[in-house]
Amino acid sequence: MSVLVTGAGSGIGEATARLLAARGNKVAVTDVNEHAAAKVAGETGGLPLQLDVTSRESVRAAIATAEKELGPLDGWVSNAGVSSMISFLDMTDEEWHRLLTVNLTGVFYCGHEFAHHLVAAGRPGAIVNVASMAAKQGNVPYLSHYIAAKFGVVGLTQAMAYELGPYGIRVNSVCPGWVATSMQERELIWEGELRGITPEEVKQGFIDNTPLGRIETGDDVARTIAFLLGPDAVFVTGEALNINGGAFMD
Ligand SMILES: NC(=O)c1ccc[n+]([C@@H]2O[C@H](COP(=O)([O-])OP(=O)(O)OC[C@H]3O[C@@H](n4cnc5c(N)ncnc54)[C@H](O)[C@@H]3O)[C@@H](O)[C@H]2O)c1
Repeated sequence: MSVLVTGAGSGIGEATARLLAARGNKVAVTDVNEHAAAKVAGETGGLPLQLDVTSRESVRAAIATAEKELGPLDGWVSNAGVSSMISFLDMTDEEWHRLLTVNLTGVFYCGHEFAHHLVAAGRPGAIVNVASMAAKQGNVPYLSHYIAAKFGVVGLTQAMAYELGPYGIRVNSVCPGWVATSMQERELIWEGELRGITPEEVKQGFIDNTPLGRIETGDDVARTIAFLLGPDAVFVTGEALNINGGAFMD
């Protein structure tokens, strides 16, 4: 397959790009941070591209360049995301819109442009959107903007799957739990400060609430994304798959 991954310069996106490349796929390794994308691409033989998911023009340009260099794209992973922690009462318009723009509108721009491209070319394809455990439960502290965006990603995924199915385009989302990435490192510090406990205590709480008993890795998520993109998931669409060691079971 040829797959474009957003936010692939770090964390889950990086793990996904590495796994897909190791399995022989052509991978466009994209990130708003071009240096991070270049590093991962250089180590995996992927194509480095700067792509800011908040810009429709940037998405369109990345599709054109990726197809020129790699040939037709048949997979897309909308993984790029940002987080912050702030109580609902202290939420600002600025922070609300920043989170919604990257985490939800970015998924829309990517899916919209890629779907238009596939439909115009008459080709099938597969899209995976990275949501979160916080896409299915709101009882998580200090993340109301993030939760709203991620619930939106799951709903958007279902709506896209419904309308794009007749074109042979599958759309699924994944809902990771507590994954060891740079985002988690920042959140451990923020949550510790907000709750008056240490980052280590926050992390231990995550493990205690995970039946499989450890912090999740980017690879845990990457393997499920690869499954959803590939032929074993050929009749799977509109799903929001939990990957969280049992931390949240719906
Ligand atoms: N880490 C977790 O515990 C966890 C859990 C559930 C879901 N997620 C989701 O997984 C995804 C990846 O998170 P991560 O933990 O790997 O974070 P991360 O911070 O390690 O990586 C995110 C990447 O996205 C990039 N990015 C940020 N804004 C962008 C933009 N506008 N356009 C393109 N790229 C942009 C960053 O440069 C970075 O390389 C996010 O959507 C996040 O919400 C993470």
